[in-house]
Amino acid sequence: MLAQTKADEFALGHVLVCRNWGDALAIRDPSKNLALLPRPPKRWFALTEILDSEFRSVSMVFGEGDDPLLIGAELDHVLQLRSEDALSFFEDVMGLSQEFLKVTGGQNIGIKLEKISTDNCSAFHVDYVPMRLITTYLGQGTEWLHDEDVNRAGLGKQRNDLVMQPLAEIQRVPAQTIAILKGERFPGGSGRALVHRSPSVKSKRDERLLLRMDAIEE
Ligand SMILES: [Fe+2]
Repeated sequence: MLAQTKADEFALGHVLVCRNWGDALAIRDPSKNLALLPRPPKRWFALTEILDSEFRSVSMVFGEGDDPLLIGAELDHVLQLRSEDALSFFEDVMGLSQEFLKVTGGQNIGIKLEKISTDNCSAFHVDYVPMRLITTYLGQGTEWLHDEDVNRAGLGKQRNDLVMQPLAEIQRVPAQTIAILKGERFPGGSGRALVHRSPSVKSKRDERLLLRMDAIEE
């Protein structure tokens, strides 16, 4: 085959680089454990207002037949934002919830918006969920490793040096790009989950605003 683009090469491995949500449905393929939907970061004023507030986290469950407006109403109730673009931010979360619900095949999803102020997940690990959507609205995105850079026997020991192969390169999801990670509980996916970690948070300047959605096991 003649020269391929980098994106084509990428899509041949365990990673899907998606142009749209339809492409992301292929995350269910057993050979894939990460789908990336790149999108240019938006500068909502609401995001800095949240980061500067006392807010810690808000969680809710969303399922088929539920009104997505309830997500916006809960965010509005908890966050009490003054920024004029708050509604546009809520609409983004509502839209992602509806799309992720389709990717999970209609499984209920747990939604959590969280301010990350500590280094609590800095060891490379796998998640014990079927599938997780992550997007970092503000701050550094999630770090991950290509499967060929991982020594899975080293997982669970809180030692990055045991998990990373000697020449491993740490990859990073850009801010606001959507990442769908397969976890260990994906049917038939045991031993094949994406290895990842949270970037380091050393000071207030490194704080992140993270949206996480988990497919809930039935
Ligand atoms: Fe994780």
